[in-house]
Amino acid sequence: MIMNHHEVKTMAEEKKELTPDAFIAAHEGEVNKRWYPRFHIAPRVGWCNDPNGFAYFNGQYHLFYQHYPYEPKWGPMHWGHVTSSDLVHWQRQPVALFPDHPYDADGCFSGCGIEKDGRLCLLYTGHVDLLKKPGQPDRIETQNLAVSTDGVHFTKDEHNPVITFPEDVPTGEDHHFRDPKVWQHDGLYYAVVGAQTPEETGQVLVFTSEDLEHWQFKHVMAKAEGNQGFMWECPNFAEFDGHEALILSPQGVKPEGRRYLNLHQSVSMLGKMDYKAGIFYHDDFELLDYGFDFYAPQVMQAPDGRCLMIGWLAMWESAMPEQADGWSCQMTVPRELHYRHDKLVTPPAKELTALREKAFSQPETVLTEETSFAEWSQETGELIAEFDLSEAKGLAIHFAAGFDDEVAIRLEKESGNVTLSRKSPSTGRREERFAKLPAGQTKLAVRVYEDRSSLEIFLNDGEVVMSTRFYPKTEERVIVLEPQEGTVRMTEGVFYELGDIFA
Ligand code: FRU
Repeated sequence: MIMNHHEVKTMAEEKKELTPDAFIAAHEGEVNKRWYPRFHIAPRVGWCNDPNGFAYFNGQYHLFYQHYPYEPKWGPMHWGHVTSSDLVHWQRQPVALFPDHPYDADGCFSGCGIEKDGRLCLLYTGHVDLLKKPGQPDRIETQNLAVSTDGVHFTKDEHNPVITFPEDVPTGEDHHFRDPKVWQHDGLYYAVVGAQTPEETGQVLVFTSEDLEHWQFKHVMAKAEGNQGFMWECPNFAEFDGHEALILSPQGVKPEGRRYLNLHQSVSMLGKMDYKAGIFYHDDFELLDYGFDFYAPQVMQAPDGRCLMIGWLAMWESAMPEQADGWSCQMTVPRELHYRHDKLVTPPAKELTALREKAFSQPETVLTEETSFAEWSQETGELIAEFDLSEAKGLAIHFAAGFDDEVAIRLEKESGNVTLSRKSPSTGRREERFAKLPAGQTKLAVRVYEDRSSLEIFLNDGEVVMSTRFYPKTEERVIVLEPQEGTVRMTEGVFYELGDIFA
């Protein structure tokens, strides 16, 4: 609420009177920054979820995100917007889209961006809530176009919606149909859209267009088999190092032993697109991130041909203690997609080194017991370390903020098992997530981005990635290296202070 001489206005009154940007400007000063990131994109105030519209236009990277500025919780979706010329330092831009047409009355849901003829075009889902009646859908979801010549102000296309659900395709009762992502192939535009089969399993539909405005349904590009979820959100077609993958966020995949322990997953499936048939032939799911908090990633093709990816560093239905501080959720750092040893790996984008400021290097050290270095005890920064595990059973690294709040990662050399543990922000109990490196390896490379309330841990240059939020009660931090049954040689160890991404 803001006060003037005569009255105290409610959020609902302000929402009516102020533009989203005026509301944000009036309230961003109220945000408590104790857990607010320095080098991750987060909303100035209010809520964000999926990254959207990740694109390159007029010499700048554009990133949009699902945004509800009025409260730090999900609400009718707007598109927040930031731009960058180097993928590292970002500028805030005005809110790009908000619900103001009958076809997007209850939200401008996720979608993508692509440059065409000197204009930045956004294709997004218009979401309309219906009153749920038995046997009838609870929503209408359509795909809509918004276009900008300056990359800042967007006009919704007069022919919207440009894609409606194809009549001859059977669908689930609730008519899920969202999150378009466009790419170009042989002079034609292709869009994947997430959907559901009548059996309530996930599927991806593919459409084609010559101009982004007129679209034809091509085919069901892929669909869930077995335990692959009831709805496939946020599909992406990704091309990297001469390989192809379908990347998507299936809802409702059930835990299988130590896999799929999060509420929803984000996966890649390597394969090959048959453009003639509109079918993607593919392998099984591989998780893109094995931590607690990663969802709805979006990819883009950088001008130099690299495939870049940003995800939402959060998970639906997890407790988000920063909501008490007036903001909620953040993006991951940008990552790159590469093909190595028959697998997709996702190291951090190479541009991120531009954030480095002061370096605190340690000489080569033999770790015989729990060891920490005073200069590494910082709330934000980047850790780069390499270890030789020949003389030990493994290594644990603790990112501690007092006994109770620590996040720990452990590698068991013989099995290759990696375990990430934290205190659950929802239950307060310790919880674990699991990944696997090849068994028996003696070398381990670790790169960690630590940013007040988040950790992104990259092992062996993106072979395993684990992301998590954590909510320490104080600003104190310490990194503890703990050899497991033996001694570990740290062959490289440096902690970088990192700068802010917003001026
Ligand atoms: C994924 C998602 C999308 C949808 C958006 C709504 O997290 O559910 O499917 O477009 O969030 O905010």
